[in-house]
Amino acid sequence: MARNYASVAFTKEVKALQERYGSRKVYAHVEQKTSGTGLTDSEKHFIQDRDSFYIASTGENGFPYVQHRGGKKGFLRTIDSVTLGFADLHGNKQYISVGNTTTNPKVSLILMDYAHQARLKIYAEVETVDIDSHPDLANLVIPEGYESIAERIILLHIIAFDWNCPKYITPRYTIEEINEMLMPLQEHIKELESEVARLKEDQ
Ligand SMILES: Cc1cc2nc3c(=O)[nH]c(=O)nc-3n(C[C@H](O)[C@H](O)[C@H](O)COP(=O)(O)O)c2cc1C
Repeated sequence: MARNYASVAFTKEVKALQERYGSRKVYAHVEQKTSGTGLTDSEKHFIQDRDSFYIASTGENGFPYVQHRGGKKGFLRTIDSVTLGFADLHGNKQYISVGNTTTNPKVSLILMDYAHQARLKIYAEVETVDIDSHPDLANLVIPEGYESIAERIILLHIIAFDWNCPKYITPRYTIEEINEMLMPLQEHIKELESEVARLKEDQ
């Protein structure tokens, strides 16, 4: 278990259930071995390669809310080892996540790599930053050639993170990944087609 995760995720009730169902001793041992909140190179590379993530916030009414955010690979930028940032777009103007984090900045993220069966969970606190008064940060977070207008920068101050086991992640592939995998096959088909054409000519 990575960096500070248990101290946030294992609440009193959670620990009571672990005790009741026999897993508390193992997790208490794991907890002692982990400290700090900083991302390592492994998490930084993983985040850089993502083109989407899910973010959960909590509304004033106590209901959790989950939203999918998508963009070009790397749109969720690592600012430093304890801070991530992304540009919040002029999108559908519902402002649910932004509204929620105004009253409760605590959020949870899950980042999926289906192709490699990996997932990273992150606890963070949101800081909403004005674009005009932070041009350097805006340059860093708003990718070149961005089609939509960015309304604000969302900084995520990381509180804890952890990787989950890969077992039940069904491998899924993007069109780009499928095309890459098919490339050698397509080359081979081309070669065979040329050979067939040559053989036909020789007949
Ligand atoms: C013109 C337009 C562009 C959008 N672009 C994106 C986008 O690049 N990425 C994304 O995840 N959602 C995009 N959306 C969808 C939503 O606006 C976006 O998910 C928004 O963050 C919703 O957040 P909320 O549910 O917290 O209010 C776009 C919507 C519109 C109308």
